[in-house]
Amino acid sequence: MSHGEQRIFVELGSRRYPIAIGAKTLHQLGALLAETFANTNRRVFIISNPTVAQHYLATAQASIVAAGFNHQAADVALMDDGEQFKSLASFSAIVDHLTSQQVSRDCIIVALGGGVVGDLAGFVAATWQRGVPFVQVPTTLLAQVDSSVGGKTAINHPGGKNLVGAFHQPSAVLIDIATLATLPDREFLAGLAEVIKYGIMADGEFFDWLESNLDAILARDSAALIYAIRRSCEIKADVVAADETEQGVRALLNLGHTFGHAIESYTKYQSWLHGEAVAAGMLMASRLAAQTGHLAVTDCQRIEKLLQKSGLPLTPPASMTADDWIALMSRDKKVKAGKIRFILPTAIGAAVIVDDITQQQLVAIL
Ligand SMILES: NC(=O)c1ccc[n+]([C@@H]2O[C@H](COP(=O)([O-])OP(=O)(O)OC[C@H]3O[C@@H](n4cnc5c(N)ncnc54)[C@H](O)[C@@H]3O)[C@@H](O)[C@H]2O)c1
Ligand SMILES: [Zn+2]
Repeated sequence: MSHGEQRIFVELGSRRYPIAIGAKTLHQLGALLAETFANTNRRVFIISNPTVAQHYLATAQASIVAAGFNHQAADVALMDDGEQFKSLASFSAIVDHLTSQQVSRDCIIVALGGGVVGDLAGFVAATWQRGVPFVQVPTTLLAQVDSSVGGKTAINHPGGKNLVGAFHQPSAVLIDIATLATLPDREFLAGLAEVIKYGIMADGEFFDWLESNLDAILARDSAALIYAIRRSCEIKADVVAADETEQGVRALLNLGHTFGHAIESYTKYQSWLHGEAVAAGMLMASRLAAQTGHLAVTDCQRIEKLLQKSGLPLTPPASMTADDWIALMSRDKKVKAGKIRFILPTAIGAAVIVDDITQQQLVAIL
């Protein structure tokens, strides 16, 4: 398999955009911007954090300057590293920076980092001067397969995660798998949980491929990573093109998330990474599906086996009682008309939205 750049597209009519995937593609950021924005006189402003910037900022900047864009050292804003900094305070600090640098409406914002940087930079782009274009350069596996694609942007508020946000699609996404070389193992596995999710909810062949190629992925083999990321992005791009603002099928991407959010919330977003909670949540959703006759028991076992082999944590905190679960899941923002909605797999490669699970069925698997 070639390690050259591969492209797929998110088909959103006039807002169609490319996802460029490859190894060492960060050098081509300037060229991608030049191709996306005909006018290279524009100012390019980068948002990142110190952890990512120390490894990748210089390459990104050199490439932008080499392509002829207007970019100075001051056209960079670094937010602090961490989910707790996806905040109104960080947003405000970046807006102060844009104001003091007199960044105008025809700027281009580049988000260089994981999902935290991407969500916040995207929200800055959605709101700065009523909206400016932005490009995602995701550097975590989770951001590469999930958060950088689809245009959901947000910041947190003390009242809840992602409470303030906007739909604002990027103009392009550049994925350089070489950036994963510095990603800690735990973060890598958390991203892998979302990759496995795509196989379960949408593509049985991809799930088969994951079963056969898990070792190569865990060894971060380039060809295997490019394929896994590409297929994940294709699935997400198709779902987003079909249902950009989550009126229907886009909700299927939340497989495992109703349970997962309950774990994250119970542990106050301190001890479980999002992808880890989703992995445990997918297993619970699969068990609920098997127990209610939506999913064959053998398929549930395959899901469990793949998750287990990947090394993801699958056992929720022992102290969580059935009452805790129900209380937390009822508060999830996906609850409609007081009913907890579950995304349940119906086969390996298919899922449905179900809202008629009884309390008894639920308690049986908790
Ligand atoms: N917008 C969406 O559709 C969407 C979807 C899923 C998740 N999210 C959001 O994404 C966020 C989580 O994103 P995440 O998992 O990428 O976490 P993250 O952005 O916090 O990144 C995880 C850690 O890895 C570091 N890091 C990033 N790239 C690195 C690299 N290449 N090498 C070394 N370290 C690196 C980061 O600095 C951070 O410490 C959450 O806020 C979540 O709400 C958004
Ligand atoms: Zn997720």
